[in-house]
Amino acid sequence: MADDVAHGGSGAARGSSAPAAAGVDGVRGPLSRRVATTLLASRESWTRRMFELAGQLRRASPEPVYDLSLGNPSLEPPSAWREAVLRLLTDEPSGMHRYMTNAGFPEVRAFVAAREARRYGVAFEPNDITMSVGAAGALNVLAQATLDPGDEVVVPAPYFSEYEAYCATVGAILVPVATGPEFGLDVAAIDRAIGPRTRWLLLNSPNNPTGAIYREDELDALAVVLAERSRDLPRPILVVEDAPYRDLVYAGDAVPSMLSRYPDTVFVTSHSKDLGLAGERIGYLAISPRAAGRDLLARAVSYCTRVLGFVNAPALMQRVLPLLLANEARVDVSVYARNCRRMAGALRELGFEVPEPKAGFFLFPRLPARLRDESGGDVALTERLVEARTVVVPGVAFGTPGYLRLSLAVDEAAVDGAIAAFVRTC
Ligand SMILES: Cc1ncc(COP(=O)(O)O)c(C=O)c1O
Repeated sequence: MADDVAHGGSGAARGSSAPAAAGVDGVRGPLSRRVATTLLASRESWTRRMFELAGQLRRASPEPVYDLSLGNPSLEPPSAWREAVLRLLTDEPSGMHRYMTNAGFPEVRAFVAAREARRYGVAFEPNDITMSVGAAGALNVLAQATLDPGDEVVVPAPYFSEYEAYCATVGAILVPVATGPEFGLDVAAIDRAIGPRTRWLLLNSPNNPTGAIYREDELDALAVVLAERSRDLPRPILVVEDAPYRDLVYAGDAVPSMLSRYPDTVFVTSHSKDLGLAGERIGYLAISPRAAGRDLLARAVSYCTRVLGFVNAPALMQRVLPLLLANEARVDVSVYARNCRRMAGALRELGFEVPEPKAGFFLFPRLPARLRDESGGDVALTERLVEARTVVVPGVAFGTPGYLRLSLAVDEAAVDGAIAAFVRTC
């Protein structure tokens, strides 16, 4: 499932409470120390716990449960999806289901390269594109290809909690950096967080969990800082742009990118959310043609796709993309927009601070002072909401106490039920 459903724990984060690897030695049984540290010794995944709790509530009583814990897309793929798959299956080219080049079908990579080149004004070539098993597959392949143990990955917080596990898998260390007003980038704080071990700056815009879209002026300032700081490092800092929500924008806001601003950028996306195909696992990464070692990077990413056992992204899903994307098919984002706006309005009336939702299907409201100051803060409120059969994730799970994360990828009845529960509980 998408988002953080299968996420049994977190990995290393600089300043996190994850115990040292030695702490798992007595209990790790057949596991490698690295996996045992993630699975057994790190702080428990809140999202996982809340998702399971929702299941328990459902089993215990037939009363409805309003589960806003997970970011599993609730919208079905657009009708063009079914038509495209049927067309492919009724007129199958021979060899369609065989192995291929690890990076993907050449014609699909050419399609993606041309489409992204038009969108970002960057001269991508097919060799810059590697098709992946979702955005998660792309991020892990890239981590394997470019991060060494002890390398640091700077990330604006709050952030998608899976990043901790992805870093832990290669022994890298996540370095969260506070964001500014309305979760915008604090470029000075990023500058301060960069050190001799910094290897990646990981940006996720539109953001999970906050919905923030990083602005042009923020990215311009960031590009200046990165160019300057990279001069002192043996290898330039790699910007990794993770953008699976870029086509779930409500009101036509642009989603600016570092691709046109900073040469050492790798762009990652997937169609898990905008086409509602999370279970089909299709995404890709695009290496900036201006990145240092561009060709070597492409070779390494292709190699890592192979040796991590993905071998290649799903063949049928690759073939379907040009058919779907030529007409810019996507899910009806107005449904997510309506849910988020209704919930944001209701929460504001109760005193929560909620930036105007712009994209995706998450809200990250700040508790009113009276609830923040209460013993237990976001965790206590989460527990009270559970009693009202409404399941959310406390901000502490994202390194940001005093907030809640709500996934509005749900039906209207769940939005109604959850609003009523908030009114009763707050
Ligand atoms: C910010 C972010 N990055 C990556 C992913 C992984 O997406 P995919 O399902 O395409 O692997 C998610 C999924 O929830 C996400 O929210």
